[in-house]
Amino acid sequence: MAALHRLLLLLLPLVGLLVLHPLPIVASYDARYLLAAKADLSDPAGALSVWEAESSHSLCAWPHVLCAGQSTTVAGLYLGKLSLAGGFPASFCSLRSLQHLDLSQNELVGPLPACLAALPALLNLTLAGNGFSGEVPPVYGGGFRSLVVLNLVQNSISGEFPWFLANISTLQELLLAYNAFTPSPLPEKLGDLADLRELFLANCSLSGEIPSSIGNLGNLVNLDLSMNALSGEIPRSIGNLSSLVQMELYKNQLSGRIPEGLGGLRKLQFLDISMNRLTGEIPEDIFAAPSLESVHIYQNNLTGRLPASLGAAPRLADLRMFGNQIEGPFPPEFGKHCPLGFLDMSDNRMSGPIPATLCASGKLTQLMLLDNQFEGAIPAELGQCRTLTRVRLQNNRLSGSVPPEFWGLPLVQMLELRSNALSGTVDPAIGGAKNLFDLLIQDNRFTGVLPAELGNLSLLRKLLASDNNLSGPVPPSVVELSELSQLDLSNNSLSGEIPREIGQLKQLTVLNLSHNHLAGMIPPEIGEIHRMNSLDLSENELSGEVPVQLQNLVLSAFNLSYNKLNGHLPLFFSATYQQSFLGNPGLCHGICAGNDDPGAIPAARVHLIVSLLAASAVVLLMGLAWFTYKYRSYKKRAAEISADESSWDLTSFHKVEFSEMDIVNSLDENNVIGKGAAGKVYKVVVGPSGEAMAVKKLWSSDVESKKKRNDTFEAEVATLGNVRHKNIVKLFCCVTNSSCRLLVYEYMPNGSLGDLLHSAKAGILDWPTRYKIAVHAAEGLSYLHHDCVPSVVHRDVKSNNILLNAEFGAKVADFGVAKTIENGPATMSVIAGSCGYIAPEYAYTLHVTEKSDVYSFGVVILELVTGKRPMAPEIGEKHLVVWVCDNVDQHGAQSVLDHRLVGQFHDEMCKVLNIGLLCVNTVPSKRPPMRAVVKMLQEVRGENKPKVKKEVAPAL
Ligand SMILES: *[C@@H]1O[C@H](CO)[C@@H](O)[C@H](O)[C@H]1NC(C)=O
Ligand SMILES: *[C@@H]1O[C@H](CO)[C@@H](O)[C@H](O)[C@H]1NC(C)=O
Ligand SMILES: *[C@@H]1O[C@H](CO)[C@@H](O)[C@H](O)[C@H]1NC(C)=O
Ligand SMILES: *[C@@H]1O[C@H](CO)[C@@H](O)[C@H](O)[C@H]1NC(C)=O
Repeated sequence: MAALHRLLLLLLPLVGLLVLHPLPIVASYDARYLLAAKADLSDPAGALSVWEAESSHSLCAWPHVLCAGQSTTVAGLYLGKLSLAGGFPASFCSLRSLQHLDLSQNELVGPLPACLAALPALLNLTLAGNGFSGEVPPVYGGGFRSLVVLNLVQNSISGEFPWFLANISTLQELLLAYNAFTPSPLPEKLGDLADLRELFLANCSLSGEIPSSIGNLGNLVNLDLSMNALSGEIPRSIGNLSSLVQMELYKNQLSGRIPEGLGGLRKLQFLDISMNRLTGEIPEDIFAAPSLESVHIYQNNLTGRLPASLGAAPRLADLRMFGNQIEGPFPPEFGKHCPLGFLDMSDNRMSGPIPATLCASGKLTQLMLLDNQFEGAIPAELGQCRTLTRVRLQNNRLSGSVPPEFWGLPLVQMLELRSNALSGTVDPAIGGAKNLFDLLIQDNRFTGVLPAELGNLSLLRKLLASDNNLSGPVPPSVVELSELSQLDLSNNSLSGEIPREIGQLKQLTVLNLSHNHLAGMIPPEIGEIHRMNSLDLSENELSGEVPVQLQNLVLSAFNLSYNKLNGHLPLFFSATYQQSFLGNPGLCHGICAGNDDPGAIPAARVHLIVSLLAASAVVLLMGLAWFTYKYRSYKKRAAEISADESSWDLTSFHKVEFSEMDIVNSLDENNVIGKGAAGKVYKVVVGPSGEAMAVKKLWSSDVESKKKRNDTFEAEVATLGNVRHKNIVKLFCCVTNSSCRLLVYEYMPNGSLGDLLHSAKAGILDWPTRYKIAVHAAEGLSYLHHDCVPSVVHRDVKSNNILLNAEFGAKVADFGVAKTIENGPATMSVIAGSCGYIAPEYAYTLHVTEKSDVYSFGVVILELVTGKRPMAPEIGEKHLVVWVCDNVDQHGAQSVLDHRLVGQFHDEMCKVLNIGLLCVNTVPSKRPPMRAVVKMLQEVRGENKPKVKKEVAPAL
């Protein structure tokens, strides 16, 4: 009985197997082809894991597969965005019924498969967003019996532009944008593709003229030839494209006049021919196209007046023609008959009034008319335009008073009226402009008292009202503007005293109240505004003493000249700021003779003088000590390595296959690969595997102080030796003897980011590589800040401390000055860090936090995006951060991007630029933590699809 039982138990699974297992479905040939393809592909995300020979699902139920009707033959493969990698799997070409193949947005590489051209049923072939390279196979010109869509956008396809594709007469969509073709003309043959609906050839290195045969494409809906080198005139035949909805010809070298006839395009909605060399007048009929919504013709050389048809365009919402030479007025009642939302006519020669009807439809958000010759008053109707967010009318001839409601537009963020002839007062209604960041009204004829309501503008960052005739006091309410960073009321007729509470304005960097009639004392509280960089109170009637507190400030500009100041000038001031106190007859430098008894110098001041003298002495002594130390180490360096051979010590942090003597004996002065403040770096090859290492030899120290220094050194090395992260340069071990210390790091063959980026070899660093470097370095820093216990602050983040391995992966290096932070922020005795990367708070506190690293990393990001050094002659010796901020403000983000890279990655670069700008916020607490920086950087790529529509125009 027991034996039978056992037998049954044995048999049961076998029986089950026989009964439950269905016939093998793999009988289908197509399933075998798919399995073969799966075997060829790398599928890290497991997207194809259900594709299994023994799968209980039928082939037609496999994910991403569509069968033809009731059959088990494959008609569609939808494999977009699955992180698939490898070459094109040839077995796909055996799927004879395949109609739809989507492999877009994967990591596929290698040549484009020629075999696809033989598939008789293929309708839609979408391979966009991969790394396919080489030429388009010429058989594509003779095959593809039924192909409707060919989408190869954003790959690395090279060679001549494949004109033979015009042979595929069934094509409706030909999308080849963003590939690396060699410069070639656009073939006349293109006109043969009579069914073509979409032609997307942006950035395909096309040159020569646009063939006039393009006019044969009567079904074309979307024509995008932007970002090529097309020249010559736009052919008149383009006016025959009667189905056209979108025409993108921006960023070419097109010249001559805009052809007549575009007005006949009844479906045209989007027209962009910006950034060419077009001349002559704008054709009268262009705005007659009844569906036009967006017209971008900026940065050409167009002349003449705006056509009258503009006034009647029924659907126009976005008009950008800045940077031309257009003259004359707007057509009367412009804006009355269209939903105008965005108007930028800046930098032309237009005149006449600003039309009162611009916002008649209640949709206008951006009004940019700067740098023209508009005259007359700002129309009262614009005061009702509550949708406005950005108003820039500077450098015109506007006059009259500004309508009260115009001051108080609720959404406006920037109101720039400078350099006109506007008069009247700043109306108290301005209190309603709750979103205002920048109020720029300098160089006009404004009069009266600045209203107290200014204090309601809690977001205000810039209040610039110099060169007017304003009177009354500096409004006491300005001290409520907690975000204010620039206050310039110079060259007015202000009187009264400077409010003492001005010290509350902790964000203030520029304070200019010069050339007024301000009286009373200089409030000592100004000395508490640590971020102040430029302070000008000259040409007023200020009296009393110069507050000692002002010496807390680190100022690049400081002017108290031509006031009525008196008393003693602290020594510190008289030495540093020679020109800052002219024209104050009552002020005496150092010790006052004459009217004052020298014995009666207040104790506090004597104390100050003594401490300053003492401080200078300390600096001098430190200098001497440094010199002596350098000199001695210089003399000793030659002998030091061989000395004391017996007592070398090796402390390893990773498994190593070499001994301390292997390292010491391989140091060769011919293999020095770098020198820094802390020591020399050698490349050595050691161990059985002949692995390269980088050995850093720290300059040796004095015997006396060595003991103490060694303790901190060892503690630091121990911390760093325990740091383990893929984006931190690995410290293998540390080799010491009584006079010398060697740190053995992994060797990074591509050297430092700084060296590469600012050398002739910068071309190697294309945008995807730079992006990868940014992400890696951010991950390394984030690990130090957030995952180490205690957390580690690097303190010398810079492009020279980001090293690159053979694949241009980045690792953070050189913790020469890194400090672990255990109990709150550490205060360091000397400023660490490198010129150009030092966070501004270092200047006034020596507190070191993770946020100082974030700032330095922000500078590195700006370096990656702009390709410029943090301090460089080509940016006028300005700090890179200042240069970037100024240019982004004035000319848009476009203007700072590394011009060697612009093109398809424009959007991504702008996003990364913005992250960099967040990191270099002057206020440490506003900088994002590194963890957030990593996340933001990763999202840039995550959400980035190949660009199929147009890029954002650089708004002035
Ligand atoms: C072609 O295939 C792609 C990817 O599946 C799809 O987005 C596109 O809409 C298809 N085009 C047509 C005309 O069917
Ligand atoms: C394109 O078609 C023409 C005939 O229309 C033929 O002579 C030519 O060989 C074809 N080109 C290719 C590359 O197949
Ligand atoms: C624009 O045209 C004017 C003359 O009409 C010429 O002097 C100027 O150089 C042109 N500018 C550009 C950028 O082509
Ligand atoms: C087009 O892309 C190439 C890279 O293939 C780039 O070098 C070039 O600058 C881009 N051209 C334009 C006009 O953006």
